[in-house]
Amino acid sequence: MIVIFGASGDLTRKKLIPALYNLFKKGTLTDSIICLARKKFSTEDFIESLQLAENIGSNEIDPEFISYLTYYPTDFRKPDINLLQTVLSKEEETIFYLAVGPDLFQPIIDIIKQLGISRKKVVFEKPFGFDLGSATELNDCISKTFNEKEIYRIDHYLGKEMVQNILVFRFANSIFEQIWNRDFIEKVEITISEAAGIGRRAEYYENAGALRDMMQNHLLQLLALTAMNPPISMQADDIRDEVVKVLRKVKTLNFKVAQYESYRQEIEKPDSVTETYAALTLNIDEAKWQGVPFELKTGKKLAQRYAEINLIIKDVTCRLFSRERKIKNLPNTITLRIQPNEGIMVKFNAKIPGAGMDLQQVKMDFCHKCEFGPNTPEAYESLLYEIMEGDQTLFTRWDSVEASWKIIDPIRQQKKQLSFYQEGSEVF
Ligand SMILES: NC(=O)c1ccc[n+]([C@@H]2O[C@H](COP(=O)([O-])OP(=O)(O)OC[C@H]3O[C@@H](n4cnc5c(N)ncnc54)[C@H](OP(=O)(O)O)[C@@H]3O)[C@@H](O)[C@H]2O)c1
Repeated sequence: MIVIFGASGDLTRKKLIPALYNLFKKGTLTDSIICLARKKFSTEDFIESLQLAENIGSNEIDPEFISYLTYYPTDFRKPDINLLQTVLSKEEETIFYLAVGPDLFQPIIDIIKQLGISRKKVVFEKPFGFDLGSATELNDCISKTFNEKEIYRIDHYLGKEMVQNILVFRFANSIFEQIWNRDFIEKVEITISEAAGIGRRAEYYENAGALRDMMQNHLLQLLALTAMNPPISMQADDIRDEVVKVLRKVKTLNFKVAQYESYRQEIEKPDSVTETYAALTLNIDEAKWQGVPFELKTGKKLAQRYAEINLIIKDVTCRLFSRERKIKNLPNTITLRIQPNEGIMVKFNAKIPGAGMDLQQVKMDFCHKCEFGPNTPEAYESLLYEIMEGDQTLFTRWDSVEASWKIIDPIRQQKKQLSFYQEGSEVF
């Protein structure tokens, strides 16, 4: 049984239901789905509001899937526990998905407690707190009711196929892992550039900003996967142990924050100091990474939408070409493209054909879609599947959430000068 709290919201409509539909089509989903939110919908109205054809991308939705969905209007602050108890079975394993803002976590935890279901998994959406204090408070509240094995904290970036591929790329390929250290790597750049603005999330975003909304979770998790040492096994906790070790060693060297020029007008707050762009330069305090800057950058209303990890390789060649031809060898780079055009690209220098010995940078390009086909599961499909399977590898453990806030909070507390950028700028 799956119970979605916040079923009339954007996340459920655009991500969860399409992901559940794909799992149903693959034969993985055989459970009924209880959908809860405040709107006084009938199940039929609710199904119509899901705009299934548009969000699933097909005009022929399997009616069996639709028969799995039932909607009950419920105010989570004044719930009808008796009704929920009649709908849910105490014996059946139940996944509770909290697709709501964090202000509703506590009332929903109280509901789940009262339902008295013994076999359960509880899924929390980001943001997990707004700073270390609120995250700790939230976690204390959750861990009084659930044990860590029952808790799934979502960072949907971890569900992306290419993010899962980071460990395989590194630890199943000695060609790369042998150079994955300060002796060979000059710099690591991790970028999530968004072309979109704040959309309909103005109130949330004004209180969050890029540091809380993106850095604390997605970018720091990418950094941890890029820099971590090999785990002793592929067990969830062995991987998550290594993730948290890296995060605890992160030192902030520098940072900048900026806001796109029309932001204040858009949110009608002329004195807003919320950053819509943040760039951090970090170092990992361990011998392997000594002196290697990790540059993390993210922002909204930028020129392009992409996410990638870029490793710049040190120039350790004999400089033959640069000395003799007075041209600079462009550095070799390894780029893990997380989205779009998922893949991995290695850039190196080659001779331009013909007379002379001029160089040009060329690339070896692994295109994920070309190799494995276009039907890669969306992040939420992978995450829901793992929840059903009870594998917590792709979910953030509390100690890593805590370590991330310990990096971000001091940055937020330093009131650095906010600069402004034009919409459509490149990452800077
Ligand atoms: N949208 C995304 O793509 C996305 C992506 C990543 C993370 N998230 C996170 O996921 C969470 C949900 O986001 P969202 O975009 O889906 O938000 P949303 O569109 O505002 O939906 C909120 C849901 O909560 C319900 N709700 C609010 N107060 C309630 C109450 N007192 N009783 C019962 N239901 C209540 C709403 O029901 P009614 O409308 O019926 O009142 C609605 O179903 C947020 O924490 C967000 O940060 C969202």
